[in-house]
Amino acid sequence: VNYREQGVTVTQTTPHQPDAAEQQAREQALTDEVVASFATSTSDRYRELMTSLVRHLHGFARDVRLTHAEWESAIDFLTRTGQKCDERRQEFILLSDVLGLSMLTVGINAPASEGATESTVFGPFFVDDAPEIPQGGDLAHGAKGTPCWVSGQVRSSDGTPLAGVRVDAWEADEDGLYDTQYEGNRTAGRGWQTTGPRGEYRFWSVQPVHYPVPDDGPVSEMLAAAGRRPMRPAHLHFKVTAPGHRTLITHVFVAGDEYLDRDAVFGVKQSLIAEFTEHTGGTAPDGTTRDGRWAQVEFDLVLQILKG
Ligand code: BEZ
Ligand code: FE
Repeated sequence: VNYREQGVTVTQTTPHQPDAAEQQAREQALTDEVVASFATSTSDRYRELMTSLVRHLHGFARDVRLTHAEWESAIDFLTRTGQKCDERRQEFILLSDVLGLSMLTVGINAPASEGATESTVFGPFFVDDAPEIPQGGDLAHGAKGTPCWVSGQVRSSDGTPLAGVRVDAWEADEDGLYDTQYEGNRTAGRGWQTTGPRGEYRFWSVQPVHYPVPDDGPVSEMLAAAGRRPMRPAHLHFKVTAPGHRTLITHVFVAGDEYLDRDAVFGVKQSLIAEFTEHTGGTAPDGTTRDGRWAQVEFDLVLQILKG
């Protein structure tokens, strides 16, 4: 409607220009209003989470004086992160990993405890239906790499050996790729076994190598923009479950790897670094005669007793 044409007198008011204190008060009032909108949350915990999230998110925007263009760019980044996800690819977890949020959550929920093996990041490459590997069997199952004998004992934090306990292990091949990163449904470099009467586990696998985290998505753009390398130091993953104990999710890292001090996902802990000894020929611990190069690591896995 054109009021002037209709003879209506329009009085134009210039918006009041707030001073800094007033601007700050307005921004705070908005934050408070949004926080208050969660007061009716159906659970106390949900209210606590959302209240803190809104306060920190608003605090961040105010702190950096977020521009509209930056807000748009963040929305575009998150949209593309979601679009990159499917059953085999989880770009949001990768984002959480490279922001250190995954390791912070590990630290909060599985803090280091005296005598138990430390936990680290789970990563996106675990699969539920890996094959069972007998004691001394071959977990590599065709994964390329230098054969590596992996053994150790699973025990409780009170020192008791844990027999009959499930140990899952998984790793990348010598090209730095997990089986799930190849086309097709090949299973290689992963499996589980049950510990023996003295809590022992042992299997052949391949010598771990360092590798880049998936580098064809928005998260790798973020790393590049930050001048960060997308590398993870060489490691083998473990997941160990035993009744009455906290499930242990961890890695053994290869001593001497050049990326130990700049893991893209901040997962390295000194206590998880072990010596992988290299051999050529000779007799392996399982009594087999070896022709070429092979490696060996011994790494005990100690599970924290659950209280209560
Ligand atoms: C991994 O070690 O498998 C991993 C962990 C975090 C991000 C990408 C890969
Ligand atoms: Fe890994």
